[in-house]
This record gives sequence, structure tokens and C-alpha cells, in this order.
Amino acid sequence: MRCPIEFVSMGILTDKTVVVGVSGSIAAYKGAELVRLLVTSGAKVRVMMTRSAMEFITPLTLQTLSGEPVATEIFSLTQESEIGHIRLADGADAIVIAPATADVIAKAATGIADDLLTTVLLAARCPLAIAPAMNVHMYEHPTVTENLGKLRTRGVTVIEPDAGALACGYEGKGRLTDPAIIVEELARILSKPDLAGERILITAGPTQEPIDPVRFVSNRSTGKMGFAIARAAWRRGAGVRLIAGPSAQPTPHGVERVDTVNAAEMLSTVSRNFPWCSALIMAAAVADFRPKNPAAQKLKKNPRGMTLELAAIPDELPRFASRKGNRILIGFAAETEDLEVNAIDKLRRKRLDLIVGNDVSRSDAGFAVDTNIVTIIGMDGGKETTPKLTKDEVGDVILDRLLAIRSAKQRPTPLRATR
Ligand SMILES: Cc1cc2nc3c(=O)[nH]c(=O)nc-3n(C[C@H](O)[C@H](O)[C@H](O)COP(=O)(O)O)c2cc1C
Repeated sequence: MRCPIEFVSMGILTDKTVVVGVSGSIAAYKGAELVRLLVTSGAKVRVMMTRSAMEFITPLTLQTLSGEPVATEIFSLTQESEIGHIRLADGADAIVIAPATADVIAKAATGIADDLLTTVLLAARCPLAIAPAMNVHMYEHPTVTENLGKLRTRGVTVIEPDAGALACGYEGKGRLTDPAIIVEELARILSKPDLAGERILITAGPTQEPIDPVRFVSNRSTGKMGFAIARAAWRRGAGVRLIAGPSAQPTPHGVERVDTVNAAEMLSTVSRNFPWCSALIMAAAVADFRPKNPAAQKLKKNPRGMTLELAAIPDELPRFASRKGNRILIGFAAETEDLEVNAIDKLRRKRLDLIVGNDVSRSDAGFAVDTNIVTIIGMDGGKETTPKLTKDEVGDVILDRLLAIRSAKQRPTPLRATR
């Protein structure tokens, strides 16, 4: 079962018009959440509903959430002049049917256009995504399987339903997927797949170095920056593996996540996955020190206090640099002073292609917040300081730089199946 991601990136669909088609499934109410999330992500949203959908949810709800009139009737003088089914089709950057009933899927597969929604589907030239929702027996019916197969062959994105307890009382596959996943799929459909072929390994979050079984030494990293890069890279067509330290961030849709706890575990996981990747982005705040002798049992209170001896954690990164091939290596430098000097030093010592300097002493950048201001310095000496951006936007800026470096290097090496 997929984990709900409960998160959409602000602004990922800015300037896009998405037409949402809601059909007559018990999951029609989730169409309201989808419309809300699409508006949050910056899209202009137009809604069309089948007559059956209006048995489950009112057009007023969707009109209020989208801020636009809802199209329900093909033979309505008012709707045809105010919305117009062809204008609806022509104005869409993408159409998503969510929830899509077995009936609408069959009509879309065979070209039946007997109401407004199905007529718009035939008239549209933009990408189409379909998120089925139905009883498990309906979903497994050979006709539905065949119809979805036909649609996939034509390039339609089928956003698979989840398995679990269904509203009809059955257990199985057929539950409309999380609306946040539908938004991410739409963002991917509407993004240029300029990272297709790249396999990007990303580290994110803090590490925890044990003092005893219940206490640890850690840092203030939350993983937000690395997770944002992972989301952006998947959207742009890359294969993404995310090696995360302890982080409460939800797993980005489409991304393979491996959880780790301490620096040794994170570095060995990166090492194991390194042969797979074509680029490594190290956004994690890996500890530099660890308690030298972690206690096997919980340490007791001591009125005289205690001294904690720390051992340095060896820097493994030069090892990756020596196995680099035509991989791109990008590091982060979290600093509280002399940002540029320290970042350039790290760039050279670790033989990185690019370093992203982060002033973590600011309240609007660095750890825990949703925005960041970074100074990006390349091997070629090129330097760029971004304005204050969301971490998703910073993720895209870093990936743009990765692409520029790639165009100066060879294409990624062919995939080797190593985990
Ligand atoms: C309570 C109820 C729940 C329904 N839920 C679904 C559903 O989840 N998926 C589905 O394909 N059909 C479902 N149906 C059947 C459709 O509403 C029916 O096939 C209808 O003709 C679909 O019309 P439309 O595709 O034009 O919206 C449900 C019917 C009822 C009465």
C-alpha cells in the first residue's frame, strides 16, 4: 500500500490550467480535496461533472473551491455560452478524471461522447490522466482491465488506485489514490522530462549518533531541502533514491526511500547505492563527531555531571570522488560564518562538481523552514546566490545546474542493477 504523502508543493502548477472531471463514484468527495490541492499548487482549475457525480457531491462545493463555474450539462444554453465544451477542452494544459468510474473509463476507451465530460475528452488534445475508483470486483473485471490497457497504449496516464478497505465493504484494490499523489502525477506530466535517464541518489536529513540506547547527538536538519530536491528530480523524469536520516518528512511520490539512523549507516548505504547512480546530491547534515563509547545501558543521573568524549567520523566522500567516472557530485555546506570561503574549501577538498552553500544562521533559510537562500559555486568558479525561494524552487535551480554540468559531460553510464 502506498503511504499518503499529505503534502503538495506550493507553486508547482503555476500558470497551468487543469480540467478536473468528476464522475459518479462514492469517492467523488475526494474530487473536492483534489481541486483544493490543485489550487494550492498554483493551477487554474476548471471542473466538469457527470450527472451521476452530482448525486454524490454538489457543483456548488467544487465551484467554491475552484473559483470557477462548473460544467455539468452539454445541452445547457447558459453553460454552453459561458463555459463552452470546446473552449474547456482547448484551454486545458491537462485533464484528469478523478474519480474515474468504470463507465467513464469504458466511454473514454471506445470514444463514446454522450455527455459533457466524455465529449470534452474527445475534443481535447492535451495530456489526459485517469484515476480509477471502484469496487475491487469491478476493477478486476476483464473489461475494465482491457479498457485501461487501451487508454495506456494511447498515452493516457493511469493513476493506479490503492488497495485497502473499500467504501462498499470489500477489501482490495479500487480505492481512489491520495489526491496529493494525483497532483504530483499531474506536475510530472506537465514538466519537461529533462532529467530522463539520470539516476539521482540524494541524502537528506540529520544523523543520530548514540550516547546510550535512549539518547543521541544530532543536529537541527529536518530533511526538507533534500526531500524537495527528490520531489523535483522525480517530476523532471529522473529515477530517484533518497537515503534519509531520521526525518518526519513524508516520502515523495515515485521516490525510493531508504531510512538510516547514524552516519556510518548512511555512508555505507550511499556507498552501496553509488554504482547505481549517475549523480549524487549530498544534502544530509551528516555528523562530524560521534560519542566515542556509547553506553550499552541507559546512563543514570549523576549529580557530578559527565564528560562525553567525541570521536571524529571519518569523511568518506573522497572515496566517492575517486570512483566518480562521469557521475556528477553535488555537496552542501551548512555554515554560520564565512559561507563562501568554507564552501569553496569543501568543493575543492571533496572534488565536487558543485557546492550549495547554506547560511543556517538565518531564520528564513537553512534548517526547518520551507524557504532557502543558497550560494551555488561550481568547479569552474561560477557563483550564483539565489533570492529567497521555496525549497522546491531551490531544488529546481540545483537540478538546472546539474543539467548544465551534464551537458558538458557524457550521458549517464548504463544502469547496473546494484542495491
Ligand atoms: C452508492 C454508489 C456508489 C458507486 N460507486 C462507484 C464507484 O466507486 N465506481 C464506479 O465505477 N461506479 C460506481 N457507482 C456506479 C456508477 O455511479 C454508475 O455506473 C454510473 O452510471 C456512473 O456514471 P458516470 O460514469 O457518468 O459518472 C456507484 C453507484 C452507487 C449507487
